[in-house]
Amino acid sequence: MYETKNPQLTPELYQYVLDHNPPLDEVQRELVDTTHRRLAGQAGMQTAEEQAPLLAFLVRLTGASRIVEVGTFTGLSTLSMAQALPEGGQVIACDISEEWTAVGRQAWADAGVADRIDLRIAPAIDTLRALPGDRWIDLVFLDADKESYVDYWEELVPRMRPGGLLVVDNTLYHGAVADPAATGGAAAIRAFNDHVRADDRVDDVLLTVADGLTLARRLA
Ligand SMILES: C[S@@+](CC[C@H](N)C(=O)[O-])C[C@H]1O[C@@H](n2cnc3c(N)ncnc32)[C@H](O)[C@@H]1O
Repeated sequence: MYETKNPQLTPELYQYVLDHNPPLDEVQRELVDTTHRRLAGQAGMQTAEEQAPLLAFLVRLTGASRIVEVGTFTGLSTLSMAQALPEGGQVIACDISEEWTAVGRQAWADAGVADRIDLRIAPAIDTLRALPGDRWIDLVFLDADKESYVDYWEELVPRMRPGGLLVVDNTLYHGAVADPAATGGAAAIRAFNDHVRADDRVDDVLLTVADGLTLARRLA
């Protein structure tokens, strides 16, 4: 193994990255600030700021119009993807928290995209199992309870259209994923990453974006 080319992401370098990405719009910025103000203890769950424009970019790049999100929280990722949808597109957003997603509902309405988001409050595994079974999903964003990632994957992959994109967050799990003795969420992500690598239905890459982001493309 040769040395990594990744520079250390100092606060200054991180700020530079944010400064050279498309900025959050007014509603997205307000959503981030509201989440930190009202849910200070949970705000760390919010999708990283640089991932909001990345998700929008991926939606536009792929032309996705049928999106499934697993793990909505206060709805930043949902908002960003919904804003990037073509006319008639929709995000099915899965979460179990009425309280947290209520913050998102307000932002989605403020941004004028509430009609593009179908929020389903239930254990995500139940929502996914109830979805149509044929190959129709263009893009997935998976960002919920790590212990269930493999189960979600197994529900989602057969429903992806050929060429459809799965985007999976936290696949480096704060760096703990490299530890063979990892437990809890880190162990679940280790198992998930091995599962993806062994899955010949997809073509996949693990990127060092934020807390680790896996991109996987459904093969024919
Ligand atoms: C990391 S947060 C999602 C962050 C979100 N993508 C954003 O942009 O801010 C994880 C979310 O998964 C949800 N969650 C946890 N377990 C779940 C389950 N079994 N079914 C559905 N949602 C679940 C939590 O309620 C939480 O809102």
